[in-house]
Amino acid sequence: MSATTIKPWVVGNWKMNPIHADAQQLISEFKTLLQDSPVEAEKCHLGIAPVTLALTQIQAALSEAVRPVYTVAQDLSRIAGLGAYTGEVSAELLKDSQIDYVLVGHSERRELFADTPSILNEKVKNALQAGLTVIYCVGESLQQRESGQAEQVVLQQICDIAAVVDAEQWQQIVIAYEPIWAIGTGKTASPEDAQTMHAKIREGLSQITAYAVTLPILYGGSVKPENAVELAACPDINGALVGGASLNAASFHQIAQAFANTQ
Ligand code: PGA
Repeated sequence: MSATTIKPWVVGNWKMNPIHADAQQLISEFKTLLQDSPVEAEKCHLGIAPVTLALTQIQAALSEAVRPVYTVAQDLSRIAGLGAYTGEVSAELLKDSQIDYVLVGHSERRELFADTPSILNEKVKNALQAGLTVIYCVGESLQQRESGQAEQVVLQQICDIAAVVDAEQWQQIVIAYEPIWAIGTGKTASPEDAQTMHAKIREGLSQITAYAVTLPILYGGSVKPENAVELAACPDINGALVGGASLNAASFHQIAQAFANTQ
C-alpha cells in the first residue's frame, strides 16, 4: 500500500469552544450538509472533538448523521482507571461512554498545561490499553524551525512515545503534524514544506514500526477551504486536524470534501 491510498481523516478540534446552543446549531448544520452533499464514509474518516463536558451530547447528536462521525476527546488523564483524582477523566471512563478516539500532545497542552513527554507517554499508554485510537500531535515552534531544528524536534516527539506503544498498537495511532507557528495564526505551511515534513515523519516511523506505510499523518495549522485542496493533493498528507475552520459547518464540510475527493 502506498501512502496515497490511506483513507484520509478530517477531524475538527473545537478547543474550548463554543457555548452549548452554538454547538447544537453547528452539528445540526453539519448534518444537513452531509445529507445534501455526501462525504462518503468509504472515502474519509470524520471526527469532531468538543469540550469534555459536551462529549456525550455531541455523540448523541452525531448518531443521527447520515454517516459515521466520530466523537473525539481533546485530552485524557495520565491516571488510568477510577479513583480519587479530582477533575480527571481516564481512558477507561471515555471508553465506558463509547468515546473511542482521543487527541494527545496538542501543542496547547504541551505549552500551557505542562504536558511533558513523560506525562504524554502515560496518557498514550493508558489510551491504547483501554482500546482508544490516539491522534498524537507533534510540531515545532517558529524558533525551532528558524534554527533548522524542526525535523529533529518532530522526530524526537515521535520517538518519545515509541517506548510505550507495542508493535501492534501502532495501528491505533494517527499522527497530526501541527507546526506551532501555523496554529490559529492564518499562516499555513506551504504544501511543499508540509509534504517534506510528512515524508520525513513517515521515514522516521518506518524505523520504528512496520505499520509506517499505512499510518495516517494529518496536517494541522490554519487549514481552511482555500488551502485544503492543495494540502490534500500531497501524497503523505492523509487528512487534517482543523481548529478555527471547524467552528463553521460549511468550511469544515468543504475541507472534508477536499480530502474525500482524493480517493
Ligand atoms: P487552527 O488549529 O486550524 O485554528 O490553526 C489547529 C489545531 O490547533 O488543531
